[in-house]
Amino acid sequence: MAGSLFRTKSIDRLMADHDGGEIQLKRTLGPLALVALGIGAIIGAGLFVRTAAAIAERSGASVTLAFMVAGLGCALAGLCYAEFASMIPIAGSAYTYSYATMGELVAWIIGWDLCLEYAVGAATVAIAWSEYFNEVLSYVGLGVPYQWSHSPFQVAAATGAHGIVNIPALVILLVMSLLLARGIAESAFVNTIIVITKVAIVLMVILLGWSFINPANHTPYIPEASTFTTPEGVTHAYGGIMGILGAAGVVFFAFIGFDAVSTAAQEAKDPKRDMPIGILGSLVVCTVLYVLFAHVLSGLAPVEFFRTAGKEASVSQAIHDFMPGYQWLAKFVTVAILAGFTSVILVMLLGQSRVFYSMSKDGLVPKVFSELHPVYRTPYKANMLFFVLTGIFGGFVPGDIVGEMTSIGTLFAFMLVCAGVWIMRVRRPDLKRGFTVPALPFVAIAGIVVCGAMIYGLGWTNWLRLIAWLAIGLVFYFGYGRRHSRLEGAA
Ligand code: ALA
Repeated sequence: MAGSLFRTKSIDRLMADHDGGEIQLKRTLGPLALVALGIGAIIGAGLFVRTAAAIAERSGASVTLAFMVAGLGCALAGLCYAEFASMIPIAGSAYTYSYATMGELVAWIIGWDLCLEYAVGAATVAIAWSEYFNEVLSYVGLGVPYQWSHSPFQVAAATGAHGIVNIPALVILLVMSLLLARGIAESAFVNTIIVITKVAIVLMVILLGWSFINPANHTPYIPEASTFTTPEGVTHAYGGIMGILGAAGVVFFAFIGFDAVSTAAQEAKDPKRDMPIGILGSLVVCTVLYVLFAHVLSGLAPVEFFRTAGKEASVSQAIHDFMPGYQWLAKFVTVAILAGFTSVILVMLLGQSRVFYSMSKDGLVPKVFSELHPVYRTPYKANMLFFVLTGIFGGFVPGDIVGEMTSIGTLFAFMLVCAGVWIMRVRRPDLKRGFTVPALPFVAIAGIVVCGAMIYGLGWTNWLRLIAWLAIGLVFYFGYGRRHSRLEGAA
């Protein structure tokens, strides 16, 4: 149906387009490397920065329940992702899957939405990196001045200093973009080393911190329903069920990334077998670690601490102030977290360039996004363009805002994925699937409901930001993508 907004790209055509001709991405990743890639993307700012924000602004100690809600939503969407990834083992993630199922317009919306997940997400982690970087510098008596490590929308409570630009965030984004332009095999190796360190520090905080939990900080476990006003002047729910749902939306950020594995399908050795292992394996490991970690962190310090002294580099600060005798752990954790964030930024930037690689192959975004380097075989021009985009968010927007934008954008994409796998089962039951979602449509519907509840919990300012982002995307689609689509004029 030429010209239709709902024209779909057939699975056969999809595979043919991506298999034939030109320079191919290398297939170098096995199942372990994929789980490592997943964990590399998953444990990061969500755990080490956003958890404290959720405790302070949304839910107090009941952040553990919020992690369970977010984990449930991810497990449900993750199952749907796994079926898609095992059925369509090519680069592009939810974007590619939806192109085959729900048509070009929805595919565009998802692809655009995934920019929130990957590009804005990378910016969020870069901002978190900047916080912990300053903490490390403080150990040697140095520090980046407030105005050069914060966005123009932030003011220091203690000194009244205004932020100008977050330079450390910009620098780390540039370094990671250059590394990606150099090649994925090297990047995956560095990533594996960092993943091991990251899991080790999470375990250390849980095991060593457990005996320092102060039951008073867990009482009441679910604070009474009230409201909280952020420094930017936005008032939203605190405590009660709405507090937990809002917190789930915030800490959902900590789970983002397990689907990044699916975007690397084109680089997997045996995608049909390895993708489900990579996606679900990394998700299960992380959920268990998160709930335990959040239980310890919320037990170490009172809520007020996470609103004031423990607002930045929260984990290190909490260990420093509430685990006497463990100063070495605070320092070690800070350095390791810094390394951990680095790997997250890497995987998110990787996911972003891969999504646009697919969209560019389809003609929906300009060709420059799929031009590979003749030697390194990476979409190096895209890597550099994304440095500019992520830099704008990382350098000039506060972490709370980009973090919540990332969450809401991803949650919306997940809802569409859940719907898509169900539609595909009805329309094309004949297609071979390496992995099938059990109990469909229940799982898909439950995924939509749980992710929708988290979107609801995030509140109206975030709904407006999502709507504005989607509106900008539609302008691009009707101005460029629709007319340049390779399906334009096709039968
Ligand atoms: N899940 C990733 C993080 O927490 C994005 O940083």
